[in-house]
Amino acid sequence: MANNSEKKTYHFDTQRLRAGYEPKDHNYAVSVPIYQTAAYDFRDVKHAKALFGLQETGFLYTRIGNPTVNVLEQRAAVLDKAAGAIALASGMAAISYALLNIAEGGGRILVSPYLYGGTIDSFKKLYHKFGISIDYAENIENPEKLADEIKPDTKAIFVESISNPSAVLLDIDAIARVAHDHGIPLVVDNTVATPYLFNPIEHGADIVVYSATKGFCGHGNVLAGLILESGKFNWREDKFPQFYEKHYTLRDPDGNYRSFIEVFPETPFTGRIRFTYLDFFGAVLSPFDAYLVLIGLETLSERVSKQVQNAKALAEYLSNHEAVEWVRYPSLKDSPYYNLAERDFKKGAGGILAFGFKGTDAQRETFLNSLELFHYHVNIGDARSLIVNSPQTTHSMLEPKEKEKAHIPENLIRISAGLEDINDLISDLEQAFKQALHK
Ligand SMILES: Cc1ncc(COP(=O)(O)O)c(C=O)c1O
Repeated sequence: MANNSEKKTYHFDTQRLRAGYEPKDHNYAVSVPIYQTAAYDFRDVKHAKALFGLQETGFLYTRIGNPTVNVLEQRAAVLDKAAGAIALASGMAAISYALLNIAEGGGRILVSPYLYGGTIDSFKKLYHKFGISIDYAENIENPEKLADEIKPDTKAIFVESISNPSAVLLDIDAIARVAHDHGIPLVVDNTVATPYLFNPIEHGADIVVYSATKGFCGHGNVLAGLILESGKFNWREDKFPQFYEKHYTLRDPDGNYRSFIEVFPETPFTGRIRFTYLDFFGAVLSPFDAYLVLIGLETLSERVSKQVQNAKALAEYLSNHEAVEWVRYPSLKDSPYYNLAERDFKKGAGGILAFGFKGTDAQRETFLNSLELFHYHVNIGDARSLIVNSPQTTHSMLEPKEKEKAHIPENLIRISAGLEDINDLISDLEQAFKQALHK
């Protein structure tokens, strides 16, 4: 439903405002209308039959498709240069549905250790119950050695392009080559980067997932997720039979059963998500939330540019502060990720950074409690600046060993830079440091 049929000549900043929507098809409404409806009348019995038989595209029930949500899907597909997209109720739904769609029925997924805490928790608590083993890669930063970690039943590699909370960057092109040499897809969580800063598909990713709750929408007022597919991956039948199994529900007008590859030759992945995971597990994005994401998307470039600018300035300020042990931000010259940032993140390496608080646990708590402008909570990518002690909150479920592997020391504090005046942000940090250190 979200085939990328947009005019390819428009640039990113035009597409984030226009792609997937023609006012003339919606009573000339300039702003995308909210189709707040659960279902859609059939014109007649023939029409109902054609929709159910997938001979005609259209809307029949909002759990599997809605015109407002569809605009978001088409727009996201254009921005990410994807063949297809599907919107869901949250980023976690996007990650879970994407990985289950690949590895359902059993197998392994090789994953980066540098991931959002909720993702790691889900790997620990959920996947083995579905027969899927998660292997944490030892060599995600040495792709030349990564091949040794791929086993015969490994079905995918999963990474974050800019990791939460430590802003680790990976060589996505090199990891994609390793995945493809072994006939498996690379799945990239591009939440922190957003399509404005990084296009995973251009770097070899096959599937891209987003928590659109974050910078993609950017106002901290919605939960949303997206899955996109490049349309280029060869889903081999021996490894991924689920795309080739013939189903009664996909039958043609003569009653012949068909497979997802036959019905959705260009977008089998998102086609299958829509008619299995979304249809049956039901994490549907509401039309109103899709509308909010579309409104947020209209200012994506300006917001993310300013966040990058503020994040860099905060990283530089913190680097020179006596109460700071270390700072992690890829664009700092002494960052181990500086070269990757220069190569792959020409518009900046994101709006989140982390630093190590130098002091006691009690001083760190006083510091956080003393902040007046920064919001103290778990979200990222908001227009407002946010701060959080990740090891004790978003990543608190991780065992000490897992935290060590993910490079998350107990004194780590994460900042998600917002759009405020940088002088006010620095003054707020400064006064909180003073209170914490009794200066
Ligand atoms: C990188 C990343 N991916 C996925 C998620 C999950 O997204 P959601 O909260 O929309 O389910 C988050 C949430 O913080 C995240 O930071």
